[in-house]
Amino acid sequence: MAGTATTNVVQAAYIVSAVLFVLSLAGLSKHEKAKEGNAFGVTGMVIALLATIWLAVSQAHNGIVTLLLILVAMAIGGSIGLWRARVVEMTQMPELVAMLHSFVGLAAVLVGFNSFGESSEFTGGLTVHLVEVFLGVFIGAVTFTGSIVAFLKLSARIKSSPLMLPARHWLNLLAVIVSLVLLVVFVQTHALWPLALMTVVALAFGWHLVASIGGGDMPVVVSMLNSYSGWAAAAAGFMLGNDLLIVTGALVGSSGAILSYIMCKAMNRSFISVIAGGFGQEVSLGDDKDYGEHRETNAEDVAELLKDAKSVVITPGYGMAVAQAQYPVAELTSQLRKRGIDVRFGIHPVAGRLPGHMNVLLAEAKVPYDIVEEMDEINDDFPDTDVVLVIGANDTVNPAASEEPTSPIAGMPVLEVWKAKDVVVFKRSMATGYAGVQNPLFFKDNSQMLFGDAKERVEDIIKAL
Ligand code: TAP
Repeated sequence: MAGTATTNVVQAAYIVSAVLFVLSLAGLSKHEKAKEGNAFGVTGMVIALLATIWLAVSQAHNGIVTLLLILVAMAIGGSIGLWRARVVEMTQMPELVAMLHSFVGLAAVLVGFNSFGESSEFTGGLTVHLVEVFLGVFIGAVTFTGSIVAFLKLSARIKSSPLMLPARHWLNLLAVIVSLVLLVVFVQTHALWPLALMTVVALAFGWHLVASIGGGDMPVVVSMLNSYSGWAAAAAGFMLGNDLLIVTGALVGSSGAILSYIMCKAMNRSFISVIAGGFGQEVSLGDDKDYGEHRETNAEDVAELLKDAKSVVITPGYGMAVAQAQYPVAELTSQLRKRGIDVRFGIHPVAGRLPGHMNVLLAEAKVPYDIVEEMDEINDDFPDTDVVLVIGANDTVNPAASEEPTSPIAGMPVLEVWKAKDVVVFKRSMATGYAGVQNPLFFKDNSQMLFGDAKERVEDIIKAL
């Protein structure tokens, strides 16, 4: 009787948590309500945790030991999480997120094997349970290694350009077919080996899928892995018979899929092509092409150029975040505006390494919102712009996206800065951007390179002004 009462209370708590998670997502979809959304999410998670711990303790043979084990595990995990969250730099956020996704994948694999070990105690439909285990382990393994590759690429530990194995799409197809055959064998034999063999195949498949996607498409990959991690959690929920985990996993899985779809549309990518590891793309990095000579300039000359300009557009990118140049950039903006020059910012949807990365930095430096425009709003204005300052941006201003059909970033909409009268590119060298492709912008007649750390160079311009 007491057991049923506990289960009922826990189920009620789960429903409340699920509603709070939905409200949280709704809040997070709007700037003004993001804080409220976060509060809903945190409250929902606290209720879910308390209810789950209570359920586990009340069903355990030795409640006190179970409670202690859970608390110790939570203290260790919580301390590591708190420490990482406190020390992480804003520029390292995407790689941290990728690493966290890999943990969800690993957890689903471990839950799957454990659940298989307990199959003998299973009283429900065994076939359905075995399929759940198999799918859970498959999705978890793909998420695990895929997220590790994403982490390595995002943290620049491996090259971000796409891995181009011969017959790569056939390899992917083979992995799916082998896994399907192993599923049939697994359900018929109830043996461990098909599950273990599929795990190895799925680990390699996840690795290869993400390795063969180019750097420019990484934002889509990260949101896609976010989606996979949700489905992995939902699969774990089925295996553990935990309704809230199923609901939460489905929420994360579907919202991640919707975000991936929106990003694909914004970047003019085929959703299917990206999730199939860059299927249908034949790419060349353009590093063997001769674009001619680039021109160099200095801070004094740029200051002169700016003094004579009527309209200036600043297009920041990842380099502004690395240099932490947003404060001098804000100062330069205010000085130019005082001189009556029209200054605006053009923000590419995937500039930097996080959605909204540039907007956050500019808001931090108190750049007025009304002069910060999205790519679609500003792209038509470049032909009427006197000077564009490209501050640490590269892929997001690369004309190869529209001019070179075999470029890995071909078709991705970019800020068409080269249409302005003069373009000044702030960067430290002629190195490529995140996608690993050469940028023909640097060699155009109206472009000049201002080499050095973006923060120092902007400060030099302010001095020269
Ligand atoms: P990137 O293409 O990453 O280029 C940044 C440039 O900044 C580099 O070429 C680098 O050149 C320069 N730089 C670095 N440190 C600098 C410093 N201290 N001072 C001056 N310049 C510096 O930047 P982007 O145009 O913002 O494009 C973003 C890329 O990241 C896209 O390919 C996008 O798909 C990808 N991505 C985006 C996201 C999201 S959601 N935003 C997530 C993952 C990946 P030097 O080394 O020569 O200085």
